[in-house]
Amino acid sequence: MTTHTIKVKVNGVEYVREVEPRLLLSDFLRHDLGLTGTHVGCEHGICGACTILFDGEPMRSCLIFAVQANGHEVTTVEALGTPEKMHPLQEAFQEKHALQCGYCTPGFLMTLKPFLETHPNPTDEEIREAIDGNLCRCTGYEHIIEAVKLAAQKMATRS
Ligand code: FES
Ligand code: FES
Repeated sequence: MTTHTIKVKVNGVEYVREVEPRLLLSDFLRHDLGLTGTHVGCEHGICGACTILFDGEPMRSCLIFAVQANGHEVTTVEALGTPEKMHPLQEAFQEKHALQCGYCTPGFLMTLKPFLETHPNPTDEEIREAIDGNLCRCTGYEHIIEAVKLAAQKMATRS
């Protein structure tokens, strides 16, 4: 099969790779670059587990072909924080028990990062709306909403 050369910046690092035209961005990130923090659930754009930032906007990486990322900038959950220096969202998810199996968590985090940047003091309603495209089978969402509010407080005191 014909391959295409793509140049894409992922988490600040520029990669040049040969990819097949039908390779999904989610598979490119996980299999070609080894960034397995991006999870794949439905592969149909329904669950939100594969959410990444594409030029700063949250997008489902299972709905994008790797070739479409040519010339663009992608940010995955690996760039959010480290165990030693977590992002306020990660700290808040841990403190508020906003995850159980954790499969959905990277998608929630990457959806919520830009949301909190534009909604520093969100209402419950705004949070529910922001996460309405992310599915979680474990938590019942209430702890996630509490975590988002805590993260907003943490971000306000740190800025
Ligand atoms: S794996 Fe992409 S939305 Fe479910
Ligand atoms: S924590 Fe298990 S699916 Fe959300």
